[in-house]
Amino acid sequence: MQNFDYQTPTRLIFGKGVIEKLPEVMAAIGKRVLLTYGAGSIKKIGLYDKVLELLKDFEITELPGIQPNPKYDPSVLDGVRLCKENHIDVILSVGGGSVLDCSKAIAAGAMYDGDPWDLISYKVKAKAALPIVDILTLATTGSEYDCGGVISRTETNDKIGYIDPLLYPVCSFLDPTYTFTVSKKQTAAGCADAMNHIMEQYFVEDASLLNDGFCEAGLKSLMINTKACLANPNDYRARAEMMFACTLGCNGIYALGNSPSGWPCHGIEHALSAYYDITHGEGLAIITPRWMKFILSDKTVDRFVKYGVNVFGIDPGMDKYEIANKAIDMTYHFFEEIGIPMHLRDVGIGEERIGEMAHHIAVNEGLDHAFVPLTEKDIAEILTASL
Ligand code: NZQ
Ligand code: ZN
Repeated sequence: MQNFDYQTPTRLIFGKGVIEKLPEVMAAIGKRVLLTYGAGSIKKIGLYDKVLELLKDFEITELPGIQPNPKYDPSVLDGVRLCKENHIDVILSVGGGSVLDCSKAIAAGAMYDGDPWDLISYKVKAKAALPIVDILTLATTGSEYDCGGVISRTETNDKIGYIDPLLYPVCSFLDPTYTFTVSKKQTAAGCADAMNHIMEQYFVEDASLLNDGFCEAGLKSLMINTKACLANPNDYRARAEMMFACTLGCNGIYALGNSPSGWPCHGIEHALSAYYDITHGEGLAIITPRWMKFILSDKTVDRFVKYGVNVFGIDPGMDKYEIANKAIDMTYHFFEEIGIPMHLRDVGIGEERIGEMAHHIAVNEGLDHAFVPLTEKDIAEILTASL
């Protein structure tokens, strides 16, 4: 096992009705609140009114309209301006991963005098960030328990994972009932994203038995509970298990002591959603099985055997390449079964910009350090196989 130094400072408050604790949590942090949210789902589920009622003694400034694949301009820039103008003490993010990621970039930008892009692009290291509290309404990214946010800059086709320990939320409210209204499309995409977070940590050169067990259990829980959520969107037990599995999936616990990964599928997908603004989890579901086929070799086959046997219950007595290929096919079919479009063409991506995207990924994503290093040509091949 490799050395590690690990701390997650985020308080998780989980379960039905936990939002009643919001005023107490917020009061300990500050009075002037920037309330961030998306296009309006929080109003439809009554959460917006509930938050305003609970925070009636606070001074609220609002930043609505944060889009999926949150944009630097206008959302991050508007949020930073609002924080500075209104001397905001704390950001309250209410929504999915996009609202929270945007809030993280705002939190750092609000405490910086220059262009916030300096921070997101790692030109300058933030010295401080505003505290963030979030109420999650969509289970998937794990942003509620990690210190990263992914921000898109449309004019340069950049989608950057901005990571800094200053960006851990102080407190995340996780009430599974808020996810009952998440559409089938977003439920399935959320599952694919969370599964891929686990796979990015599982497919590495060296992993402990303990971490492998966590990962395999996480994958099984996500697959079983996603199907249950799709069959009955109000299934509390299934929504709750899914939410918890997603929360744990991205903060690095499953990778502690393992050899590094490089997160290749995320590196490739971020370019797809930067160039075409597609749903992150759908892009990942399309890329993952093609990437798996591409990296299958004598070096990796044993990992795939373990995955196939322990996650999909494939007979361990079969030939190892047969097991590996069957596991990859079963991964593909699971995503297909939960309703994800499984070709890039299905989400509006043709071959026209594959070369350009492969170049962008090779230059910006550092995939030459992945478990199986990927060159620009390799990335183009994976993208072409995904068409
Ligand atoms: O905008 P509203 O009206 O809120 O609607 C949203 C949005 O249209 C809707 N939604 C959210 N909660 C809902 C709901 N609809 C009905 N009922 C509810 N309860 O769902 C749509 C998608 O929301 P979004 O926040 O974009 O989804 P998600 O949580 O999947 O976030 C995606 C973003 O997170 C990034 C992705 O790249 C993408 O930009 N990621 C962030 C990570 C992190 N911070 O650690 C890791 C991930 O790998 C990922 O890259
Ligand atoms: Zn992801």
